[in-house]
Amino acid sequence: MSPSNEIIMRDLTKIFKKRGEEVRAVDGVSLDIKEGELFGLLGPNGAGKTTLIKCISTLLIPDGGTSTVGGYDIRRDPLCVRRKLGVLTGGERSLYWKLTPVENLKYFAALYGVPRKNTQARIDYLLDIMDLKDKIHTRVERLSSGMKQKLSIARTLIHDPPILLIDEPTLGLDPYFARFVRDFIKNELNGRLKKTILLTTHYMEEADELCDRVAFMNRGKIMALDTPTALKESMPREQVLEVKCLGDFDKELFSAMRESASLNLSKRDGFIYVRMSTDNPETLLSRVVDLVRDKAKVLSVLVTSPTLEDVFVYLTGVSLKDE
Ligand SMILES: Nc1ncnc2c1ncn2[C@@H]1O[C@H](COP(=O)(O)OP(=O)(O)OP(=O)(O)O)[C@@H](O)[C@H]1O
Ligand SMILES: [Mg+2]
Repeated sequence: MSPSNEIIMRDLTKIFKKRGEEVRAVDGVSLDIKEGELFGLLGPNGAGKTTLIKCISTLLIPDGGTSTVGGYDIRRDPLCVRRKLGVLTGGERSLYWKLTPVENLKYFAALYGVPRKNTQARIDYLLDIMDLKDKIHTRVERLSSGMKQKLSIARTLIHDPPILLIDEPTLGLDPYFARFVRDFIKNELNGRLKKTILLTTHYMEEADELCDRVAFMNRGKIMALDTPTALKESMPREQVLEVKCLGDFDKELFSAMRESASLNLSKRDGFIYVRMSTDNPETLLSRVVDLVRDKAKVLSVLVTSPTLEDVFVYLTGVSLKDE
């Protein structure tokens, strides 16, 4: 029997040296991603998500711990690991801009050892599903950025790998195309083709919508791991107060309040949103009014249920969108 298509990490560690100081980018991570699972790694900038993906995909050699991909050890059998894997990282750097989509896919098919007799059928399927059929003679440099991203996805899938590592699949994409990519990952890759998928994101809605299980990552460590529903149910406080304001806020007071409350502040469409989980909405509301006094106007107050981001803030004290 062939080894099952799972990813196992034990105490995986990667350390960088920055100006003499050690950064433990991945700090003793142990995870089991099961065959056929769509698993999400959620964390803010600098959490270590990309470094983890690079270790598993054999682009970086870890400083400690082990990992196996589809039964192969990343240190002992890197070539076998690579054959099991499709790796999609953001951007279009992985394509040859002077070549057409078909030329690109033929090149990568040869590189990944796709049998010649299967190559054309594989390319036809991928160009069809990515809706690139009328662009087969256009050089990549002339494609729109959405089309380049679609071709990058096709390139990742050319050798039909059973396990996919997808780093920030929708970063910088317009909402329409982001929707296409999410649906494609969920319905086609995981749903129909049963691929094992590890994806990273710092969009909590994306993790919530797509993933069977989610691990929260912060400063190289896994802080929590469960289904999105169970994570949200783990919040001891069931209500979240969301205050929408127009204007600015007192940054010092905000930092001080954060010490004592699970508080998250974000800016969207010119408005400030303060979210906090609480047992006592009234006290907290008066504190938010203090927070924005003289600086902003409270437009609305809403009592809602916790989102994955609220749980993340509650557990780590860090917002996913922190600068
Ligand atoms: N090549 C490198 N050399 C030195 N430090 C690095 C290197 N790559 C990453 N780091 C550091 O390791 C930590 C983790 O970075 P990483 O890119 O893995 O985070 P991330 O979770 O992918 O963040 P983002 O959401 O911004 O993509 C950061 O502190 C980063 O500065
Ligand atoms: Mg990253």
